[in-house]
Amino acid sequence: MKITKVNKIKGIVYPPGDKSISHRVALISALSDGENTIENFLFAGDTNKTLECLQKLGVEIEIGEKLKIKGKGIKKLSPPHSILDAGNSGTTIRLLAGILAGQKFDSEITGDDSLRKRPMRRIVKPLQMMEAKIEPTEEGTAPLKIYGVDSLNPIEYEPEIPSAQVKSCLIFAGLHADGKTKIIERIPTRDHTERLLGLKAHFENGKKIIEVEGGKRIEPANYIIPNDISSAAFFIVAGVIIPNSNIRIKNVTLNPTRTAFIEILRQMGADIETENVKEVMGEPIGDVIVKSKKEVNLKNLTLSGDVIPGVIDEIPILSIAGAIGEGKFEVRDASELRKKESDRIKAIVENLRAMGLDVEEYEDGFAFEGKNKLKGALIKTFNDHRIAMAFSIAGLIAEGETVIDNPDCVKISFPNFFKILSSVVNF
Ligand code: S3P
Repeated sequence: MKITKVNKIKGIVYPPGDKSISHRVALISALSDGENTIENFLFAGDTNKTLECLQKLGVEIEIGEKLKIKGKGIKKLSPPHSILDAGNSGTTIRLLAGILAGQKFDSEITGDDSLRKRPMRRIVKPLQMMEAKIEPTEEGTAPLKIYGVDSLNPIEYEPEIPSAQVKSCLIFAGLHADGKTKIIERIPTRDHTERLLGLKAHFENGKKIIEVEGGKRIEPANYIIPNDISSAAFFIVAGVIIPNSNIRIKNVTLNPTRTAFIEILRQMGADIETENVKEVMGEPIGDVIVKSKKEVNLKNLTLSGDVIPGVIDEIPILSIAGAIGEGKFEVRDASELRKKESDRIKAIVENLRAMGLDVEEYEDGFAFEGKNKLKGALIKTFNDHRIAMAFSIAGLIAEGETVIDNPDCVKISFPNFFKILSSVVNF
């Protein structure tokens, strides 16, 4: 895929359905007692893996204009005939492990080369505290072997790192426990699982306490999934950094646990508005409008500490805004980035250097002085969808040609990314 400099971007973008919400709606539907219909489900690499795993667990799924999932009820999935494959998807393996841990049958779940390198002890440890029989490899990675149990013990647990996947895994396990599980978060992470299940949460000493009662019936529902704000982020930053742009991104999740990157772009000086804000299925959704002037003036900043978990998926694209901003752009306390679909610190640092920036790499982040010119380069995606999309946007402001080495990896979360991008660029 070759990308060259554009004059502006203009138009209306409909990003695909939200990835985090799609996974959760599929899993919750499978645990419900009856037939669910789902509009705007994301059909992409990661979420297809969740559907495939559920089918192997005996869940009837009909893929039509609307997705239909016939729930089997809590503790009623069927034993799979083969190993479950989560592919590239951390959300699939970690959330589904919470459900498998509470079933009466044995199962095994694994993933692709990237997923088999990612840390699983963060879910294995608390699941074992719940008396789940789950074993990772010696390195604490997938494949995960899970043995059947009659029930799980409820626990009170504060994850060591803020992670919506760990929290959601424990919520799903909690649905299979005898009693009330409490999960404590010092830094609140994306809360779609709690919203979808209508869970109670309160704050104590500044920490969020989420309560989940085991064994309760889940009612089937008709879901409408909002568009993905993290996919929208690539177009939002494109609108911010390409002069004379005017772009409207429709019907995206405006859940505050997902929109911190918009606040950061505003702090940097971006003109971003929201409109048509309403609530759909307990999630705030709306349009995001981005405008830029003839001269783009962004002020760089440091992202560190408690800010990081809320923008973890958007750091690759925020660093592209930083590349043209004025002053030092620094990311610290973000070593979690090394444990994503790729080592995203390495991927960002190498690719920004290839585009002409002088970047310093730290164990937990990176830093560079912004400058107004990027040069086109060969971008190594490391098979990571967010790296591919972030550096495609960088290519739109770079002098010369940018080549993305494996553009197909965008299919993990945003299969028609390049098609939509080409519909809004103006040369
Ligand atoms: C996700 C949680 C985040 C995020 C990932 C999706 C989710 O991961 O990076 O893309 O849907 O729960 P962590 O829980 O590892 O922070």
